[in-house]
Amino acid sequence: PFKENTVVVVFGASGDLATKKIFPALFGLFREKYLSKTTKIYGFARTQMSNEEFKGRIKGFFQTPTEESKKLVDQFLELCFYHSGQYDQAEGYEELTKSIEKFEAERGVKEPHRLFYLALPPGVFVPVAERVKKYCHPGDKGIARLVVEKPFGRDLNTAKLLQSKLAPLWKEDELFRIDHYLGKEMVKNLIPLRFANSFLSACWDSRYITSIQISFKEPFGTEGRGGYFDNIGIIRDVMQNHLLQVLTLLTMERPVSGEAESIRDEKVHLLKAVKPLNKDDVLVGQYTKSEDGKKPGYLDDKTVKPGSKCITYAAITLEICNERWEGVPIILRAGKALNEGKVDIRVQFKETKNGIFKHVARNELVIRVQPDEAMYMKMNTKIPGVSHSTTTTDLDLTYSSRYKKFYIPQAYESLIRDVLNDDHSSFVRDDELEISWSLFTPLLEYLEGPEGPTPVPYAYGSRGPSLLDDFMVENGYVFQDDSGYQWPVTTPQ
Ligand code: BG6
Repeated sequence: PFKENTVVVVFGASGDLATKKIFPALFGLFREKYLSKTTKIYGFARTQMSNEEFKGRIKGFFQTPTEESKKLVDQFLELCFYHSGQYDQAEGYEELTKSIEKFEAERGVKEPHRLFYLALPPGVFVPVAERVKKYCHPGDKGIARLVVEKPFGRDLNTAKLLQSKLAPLWKEDELFRIDHYLGKEMVKNLIPLRFANSFLSACWDSRYITSIQISFKEPFGTEGRGGYFDNIGIIRDVMQNHLLQVLTLLTMERPVSGEAESIRDEKVHLLKAVKPLNKDDVLVGQYTKSEDGKKPGYLDDKTVKPGSKCITYAAITLEICNERWEGVPIILRAGKALNEGKVDIRVQFKETKNGIFKHVARNELVIRVQPDEAMYMKMNTKIPGVSHSTTTTDLDLTYSSRYKKFYIPQAYESLIRDVLNDDHSSFVRDDELEISWSLFTPLLEYLEGPEGPTPVPYAYGSRGPSLLDDFMVENGYVFQDDSGYQWPVTTPQ
């Protein structure tokens, strides 16, 4: 249905998310010919601004890798219109609908299909969802879809409350809860990787795998977003959603089909098998000034509460109590203001315990989500030449060297395309959301309550709290001696 004459309305159009992610993603889809020239796109927000001002604001963020694509910017902007209105009053929505109906009438559209994207702060989320339903939904004569962004509550109760307000208005199949990590290329690759490769399926369990680690590292602090982040902390910001989503795809059973509901059913099954989080298996930190004093500590941010115990680093070990994963520690770790920006998954296989190769390193499958998408398996092989010794090298699928002239869409591009195809498989279902909150809420209550630990300080630009390595080792991860691991390998003569 969302092919020709589709109407897209982005609420919160003057905000950061819309400007930097959503409109550039819509442009990316247009550039790659996944969005028809017959589409009409509205930006809706409170700020008064002209169409021209609005277009000027958004176009600076479009990616135009070729001369050809630069020419498409103006064509795309011709599809865009800005509409200002108050979020809590009928008027703006009524005018918007009049304009949409006029466009649909001109095009002879019989079954309107309208996509509403809420890129909004949580406070106005429900009022807008209510009014969009009341004033902008085409009713029985067409279809409407509502895309919603996190935060979906801040704990189990608030998430349920939000859901109880949305559910009577918007049916589950009209709703798309975005978690942009599900749109990342390597995350989308997890299902094919796992279920289209029989050699991996054969060893994907506790008999062969001994530890899993999913980590998120950012090289910058809260710079400018301290006020927002202080009430949230890193666990809500990236763990309960992004990293947990990656975990479910990495560990769930094979879905009975490729249908969205089959995939989401398996994710839910998996989440139900996760053991309640143990407060002793958690390491939390907060960053301080960088060692050279040039980068500010978290508490230096003026928008943060003085003395805040907000967590900017967390490492949590969890365990999945099903037959496949029992006994395999899974470490999720996430931190801001670290030494590098990287998101990766590491799956360590059991070492060879006996025999001639009992000293070799563990095999490790690394899936690098960003930057520079790659997948490589650390392997032990004979050093080429007369030597009988082994060394660690890798089976390497680094996209930039393997694929030529390839195009990796931005996460939002990939997900908005799914919405246009009405494909829910990479979106979070209501029950999935609820279970993820049930898992994290008791831990958050403990960490934020009177008994909660004081976050361990770590310097801006460091690898994280110094206790981290011990924590990882205690939780089954082995730091391997990679001194012989180099590429390209120089063959001893
Ligand atoms: C967002 C978080 O959801 O994800 C941010 O709110 C974080 O704090 C961002 O920086 C990371 O996304 P990406 O795509 O840059 O890895």
